[in-house]
Formats: sequence, structure tokens, C-alpha cells
Amino acid sequence: MRKTAVSSTGTQTALEFGSIRYAIGDRTLFDGLALRLGAGESVAVMGPSGSGKSTLISCALGLVRPEGAVRVAGADISGMRPRELVRHRAAHVGVVFQFGELLPELTPVENVALAALLAGGTRKHAYQRAEELLSELGISGLEVATGSLSGGERQRTAVARALVNKPALVLADEPTGALDEANRDSVADLLFAVPQRWRCGLLVVTHDAQVAARADRLLRLTDGGLHPGSSV
Ligand SMILES: Nc1ncnc2c1ncn2[C@@H]1O[C@H](COP(=O)(O)OP(=O)(O)OP(=O)(O)O)[C@@H](O)[C@H]1O
Ligand SMILES: [Mg+2]
Repeated sequence: MRKTAVSSTGTQTALEFGSIRYAIGDRTLFDGLALRLGAGESVAVMGPSGSGKSTLISCALGLVRPEGAVRVAGADISGMRPRELVRHRAAHVGVVFQFGELLPELTPVENVALAALLAGGTRKHAYQRAEELLSELGISGLEVATGSLSGGERQRTAVARALVNKPALVLADEPTGALDEANRDSVADLLFAVPQRWRCGLLVVTHDAQVAARADRLLRLTDGGLHPGSSV
């Protein structure tokens, strides 16, 4: 059963950075950075190139280990052993990257089902869930290699893959960065509908002010911390 932290307001915590600190070389990227992201909520993080946005995503994935607590779906991942971390991540976290990183030779259904199979699902259930999700996201029937899809179709498939294991937390790093305006808008529509529809937390890092403006909260990463921001 999923372990969840429940705040005083009753919402479940999808992601929490206690007060994290992380330095690369002589540069301190995070210095007491704190964030709490609840189930059903979206947060966008903007910040200059090199400010540490992708590194923050890596912290939530447990790939970078800062000082301080990082809680995902209620469990502190900072002290987890690698195998436990991999299991926890597969069960609770979905990720969307800039170029819809999928296996190009597989079809969309196969790509999405693969993520469910890797998390331990049965073949029948994995394919069934993949087909349902793709259909819900308006991209069913694409029985061609994912590599031949448009950027927008690939990103929709990537969103489906991120959701297939019913994650508590979805992380997106520049999810619309490679798309034209029309595709950007439709992928952003899809993505920001996710928290309410699937009751998970969504953390999006982006350079695109129009994408960021759709989040429930917009934060800026500056001086090693997250600060309330506006999209302009
Ligand atoms: N493995 C690493 N070794 C050394 N420096 C690194 C490493 N990973 C990231 N950095 C540095 O950490 C800083 C933050 O990088 P990060 O990729 O998180 O920035 P970002 O905000 O995502 O930038 P962008 O908007 O360009 O994607 C950069 O100065 C980068 O060069
Ligand atoms: Mg980045």
C-alpha cells in the first residue's frame, strides 16, 4: 500500500524538499531550499539556465542526493538504498523530459506498456492500461514506430507513460521545450489536467512563461531557494 504523508490541511504530500542543500564544486545550487507539493496540485519552477532546475528534478528522482530530507509519496528517499530507491521510484514517480524520451522502434502502446511491465505489472494488465490511457489522452490508434510520430504525439505518449503506474508524483523537465506553439498548448493542456484528474502532484520546470502560468503555483529558483514568482 502506498505510504502517504498527510498535512494538517488533510492533503497528501506528493513531494517535499525539507530544507535541502547541494553544492557542485564551489557553487551552492540549493541552500535551504524547501517545497511541499500536495496531491492534486501543480507547481511550475522557472529560473535562469544553470540555476539548477534539472538538478532539482534529479533530487526528486533520487539521482542527486542533497543534504536534507527529500520525501516522495510520503517516504524519505534520502536514506534509501539503490534497490529500494529504484522500486520506490518505479511505483510512485512518472517523468516527462524535453524530447519525449521513448524507445523509437516501439509503438506508443508498447512504450507505455513497457513502463508498466518494468514496474512489475502483468503483460495483459500493462497493455490494457496503456491502451486505456492513450485513448483517454486522445492518441490511440497510432500503431507505428514512436520514432515516426510528431513531437506533440511523442510528448502525449510520454505523458501516458509517466501516468501508467498511477504515480503520486509527476515530474516534467521542459516538457514543451521542443514543440511549436500549437503543440505546446495542447501538451500543456494535457499535462496540467493531470493533477486533478489523477490526484497526483505535478512539478514542471520550464523556461516558457505561458506554460508556467498554468500551474497552481509559480516559483522561481534563485539564490539557492524557491521564491514566489509571476510569469512575467
Ligand atoms: N554532473 C555535473 N557535474 C558538474 N556540474 C554540473 C553537473 N550537473 C549540473 N551541473 C551544473 O550545475 C548547474 C545547474 O545545472 P542544471 O542542469 O540543473 O541547470 P538548469 O537550471 O536545468 O539549466 P537549463 O535551464 O539550461 O536546463 C549548472 O551550472 C551545471 O553546469
Ligand atoms: Mg535543465
